[in-house]
Amino acid sequence: MNKQQVIQLILKDKINNMPINTDVKAYAPTNIALCKYWGKRNQILNLPNTESLSISMATKGTTTSIKVIDKAYDCLILNDHEINQSSSFYQRLTAYLDLFRTSAPYHFQIKTQTNLPIAAGLASSASGFAAMALALNALFQWELTDTELSILARLGSGSACRSLWHGFVEWQLGQREDGLDCYAYPLIHTWPSLCIGLLIVSEHEKQVSSREAMQRTVTTSPYYATWPQLVKKNMLQLKEAIRSHHFHEFGKIAESNALAMHSTMHTAWPPIHYNLPITQAYMKQIWQLRADGLPLYFTQDAGPNLKLLFLKEDLQILQHYFPELIIIEPFKEWKLK
Ligand code: PMV
Repeated sequence: MNKQQVIQLILKDKINNMPINTDVKAYAPTNIALCKYWGKRNQILNLPNTESLSISMATKGTTTSIKVIDKAYDCLILNDHEINQSSSFYQRLTAYLDLFRTSAPYHFQIKTQTNLPIAAGLASSASGFAAMALALNALFQWELTDTELSILARLGSGSACRSLWHGFVEWQLGQREDGLDCYAYPLIHTWPSLCIGLLIVSEHEKQVSSREAMQRTVTTSPYYATWPQLVKKNMLQLKEAIRSHHFHEFGKIAESNALAMHSTMHTAWPPIHYNLPITQAYMKQIWQLRADGLPLYFTQDAGPNLKLLFLKEDLQILQHYFPELIIIEPFKEWKLK
């Protein structure tokens, strides 16, 4: 089964819809996994080996506007700069758009505005593909359900399927080969005092993409075999901590899950290390502050940046220790659904 076939299953006769004659705009927040998606059972359809759970970043994300243009190629504008057609970013996006121009060879102008560093492990591709799926849905008037949109976003980038909602989002594993039961949905629980702090130590594009790192880990790390079991356990623990607002348990599970994911990478071959010396120094500082009594934890994705987890009551002390911290209150200022 390929992406095109899955799209046909979702769109059915809507596949022949004409785009509307105006440009449309959509916003999606980025999301940060608290229990990570790491490893695929199907690389073409981005079907994961495990379920995962994330928190969306409210106002940090991507706004995408799209319109049909009378040109023989797509025009991509990222943060007001036109993207070169030979860049991997352009190629990845146009390959995704190719999936939707079966009825006629439309070309698009896409303007994408993101307030996140691209490719620095801050999941900008997640909000990017989620915003794109929403924008295409509006442009072609498909009127798809959230579940269907989550599947379309997943075909662009796995973690994008979690970026269609605010708050806590779970991505269920599913069993079907076509992945039609593999999508995300929001959890009902909120946590108004929960804060995330982005500690950006590098905005440079990473040398090993998460796609490559994931695959290398699955095929070469002797410890990857233990990962699915750990995720099963962590998912239950995390959901219980969220339900009961047990912050120490919540932080512990999220941090240890991220460290376990990185251990599978450290033991891949060739090994993958995303940490910079400063990442390591910040980790030690966080552990020391915690030992001194501050309820502070972190999570980390496929990059050197850390995402701090803490409660609003500790905001000032956090700003004192980490003046450069970008603070997000995930349950404030919801704009999406
Ligand atoms: O969706 P991708 O291919 O960018 O992979 C994301 C992988 C992690 O960010 C490391 C984990 C996750 O669940 O988001």
